[in-house]
Amino acid sequence: MTDFSHYLGQCQERIDGYLNDHLQSDQPLLERLFAAIRYSVTNGGKRIRPMLAYASCEALEGEVASADVVAATVEMIHAYSLIHDDLPAMDNDDLRRGQPTCHRAFDEATAILAGDALHAMAFDWLAAAEHYPPPVRLKMIQLLAQAAGPAGMVGGQAIDLGAVGRVLDLDTLENMHRRKTGALIRAAVQLGALASGNASQAHLLALGTYADCIGLAFQVQDDILDIESDTSVLGKQQGADIARDKPTYPALLGLEGARQLAGSLRDQAIDALQPLESGSLRLQQLANYIVQRHF
Ligand code: IPE
Ligand code: IPE
Ligand code: MG
Ligand code: MG
Ligand code: MG
Repeated sequence: MTDFSHYLGQCQERIDGYLNDHLQSDQPLLERLFAAIRYSVTNGGKRIRPMLAYASCEALEGEVASADVVAATVEMIHAYSLIHDDLPAMDNDDLRRGQPTCHRAFDEATAILAGDALHAMAFDWLAAAEHYPPPVRLKMIQLLAQAAGPAGMVGGQAIDLGAVGRVLDLDTLENMHRRKTGALIRAAVQLGALASGNASQAHLLALGTYADCIGLAFQVQDDILDIESDTSVLGKQQGADIARDKPTYPALLGLEGARQLAGSLRDQAIDALQPLESGSLRLQQLANYIVQRHF
């Protein structure tokens, strides 16, 4: 096992433990709701957003534990976005992380509510995180809300659904990808930096450029994997984008063009880390992982 895969394993274990411990309810009436929440959150995601939050915090010499809440809340917004993304009214997918999607395992109403609950709980947890000074906490809440809302994920999803069956130009496609996937990845990096307690404006600027590049690269690679990966490896239905005539990078640039774009974004991301010097090793490795992953 390489040093980096050991690091990934450690981060996954850390965030899985934190989410498992905290996503509990002692109210029998809410048993089904929490079963759906835990089913969707603790079912083996890659945890790339928590890893980015931890790595960004550590790059600025913050304690890893100080990033637990931000890592968890970004992952909760991500999990909520996936539950809703899979619904029949959106991508209508049956498979997620190798298991039936939330609405298939439970029912549509429960899946909608599980997503709604995760969305609200994420902000509640951040508001209650007293180890961050109140102005920092407020900034975190605003950054996460902007990344989740119309300026970010929800806006990107709206563009995505409105574009089914149409050919988007490159600028519109980029705008969509930056919102639907890039914004939350950017928030993970920024919140991790803020959690360190040591983020200067220069750090935030460098990390912002890094995050913009890997955020876009992440969705480009997701589009590539929809074509060239395998359902059993991917854990979701391979070919779903083509079947639904989704706007994707390979559809516009071809597979090779999309691969080149992902590689060049990775290079730009790593260049942007120069002001952080050796502290940024994990962030550099994560940038490589994002474009080299197979699922
Ligand atoms: C999938 O995200 C959806 C996109 C935003 C492209 P991930 O590939 O991070 O999904 P999990 O969390 O590992 O399942
Ligand atoms: C989803 O994009 C992005 C979200 C905000 C959930 P996709 O629809 O491509 O994600 P997958 O391929 O279903 O994971
Ligand atoms: Mg989608
Ligand atoms: Mg989808
Ligand atoms: Mg996809």
